Amino acid sequence: MDFRSLAQTYQTPLYVYDFDKVEKNFLEFKEAFAGRKSLICYALKANSNLSLLSFLASLGAGADCVSIGEVKRALIAGIPKYKIIFSGVGKRDDEIEEALREDILFLNLESYEEMQRVERIAQELGKKARISIRVNPNIDAKTHPYISTGLYENKFGVELEVAKQMYIYVKSSPHLEAVGVHFHIGSQLCDLSPITQASEKIADFLKSLLALKLEIKFFDIGGGLGICYEDEKIIPLYDYAQSILSTLKDCEPTIICEPGRRIVGDSGYLLTKVIGEKRNSHKRFVIVDGAMNDLMRPTLYHATHKSFIVGKNGEESVCDIVGSICESGDYLAKDALLPPTQEGDLVVFENAGAYGYSMSSNYNSRTRPAEVALIRGTPKLIKARESLESLWANELELL
Ligand code: LLP
Repeated sequence: MDFRSLAQTYQTPLYVYDFDKVEKNFLEFKEAFAGRKSLICYALKANSNLSLLSFLASLGAGADCVSIGEVKRALIAGIPKYKIIFSGVGKRDDEIEEALREDILFLNLESYEEMQRVERIAQELGKKARISIRVNPNIDAKTHPYISTGLYENKFGVELEVAKQMYIYVKSSPHLEAVGVHFHIGSQLCDLSPITQASEKIADFLKSLLALKLEIKFFDIGGGLGICYEDEKIIPLYDYAQSILSTLKDCEPTIICEPGRRIVGDSGYLLTKVIGEKRNSHKRFVIVDGAMNDLMRPTLYHATHKSFIVGKNGEESVCDIVGSICESGDYLAKDALLPPTQEGDLVVFENAGAYGYSMSSNYNSRTRPAEVALIRGTPKLIKARESLESLWANELELL
């Protein structure tokens, strides 16, 4: 990849995504579940750029959304409404109403109370809402506590017993139709056994629902598969699919999976430029023009995004790669090894395609980077760099 010319053309900090990799990653999911009816609903939260979404739509992807904003993005990008699902622990009434008006595939419910709200809104609209219920299997996914979701101490899903009562309620409601069952135990998962355990538990539950003559068509296994940031062993997709399917021996639901990171994570790079170096008696700091507002993961999860300098050799020494935000927590790498740098050198961070741009902010009144896609190696600008004016546009008119 010609990082130098990309940086020259589009300036830094800059996100670059290799769409060929995205395609390969997506098709691997399709392939893994090819033996069964399946739908890959890409989790928009990982990266919701419209060009990326329409690219995925062209490959047959559906969408897993967690806000009405994401539902609208998916629709604008050309993802068919019958492939869109809407999850999230705190859906507002207006979001539920809009999702029902758009007639998407289904809403994943998170509580008994939410079910009643969806029923009331569907009734007001004269509609029947298709729903699925997120069940919390109380299984430890063994990942970072911020992104572990399948334990009772987490806010997500409902307990099996409550879920059963909900399905029974739905069965007799004229405004609700249960079409799926859902679980998701966490993100950046690198161990298959908790996933298999959860799938077993929820598959048994599904069978008990089918025995009650509920017509549950979709088995939504969530997302969560990890990628290799440092030296993690990733779960082979074939093994993943086989382990899920092995829990569904006596029934044939359509499998829905909701991968985000595994589709876009390793396709993305964050390009930054060195502003200068600074040393004290303890440490070496390499200061770059990117910061925690551009890539939040190192600060928030102590995540490692491997970095390198483009086209430079020399004796490496330990340094922190930092931005210019007024917080000691503002760093992109801790204890990285880099050769001596000079102003203008390019430092590239890998595996930045997922939860990079989508978690970026304007903290310290910094404009967010541009985004570029490489399609068969050819660069295309897919999001312009924000202008300073755009930062205060919504305030100016109120001044
Ligand atoms: N489905 C549900 C219900 C989810 O909660 C998530 C992620 C996904 C699918 C997609 O998970 P993935 O395949 O991308 O792991 N910001 C964090 C990750 C938060 C994930 C939240 N839920 C990070 O940067 O690591």
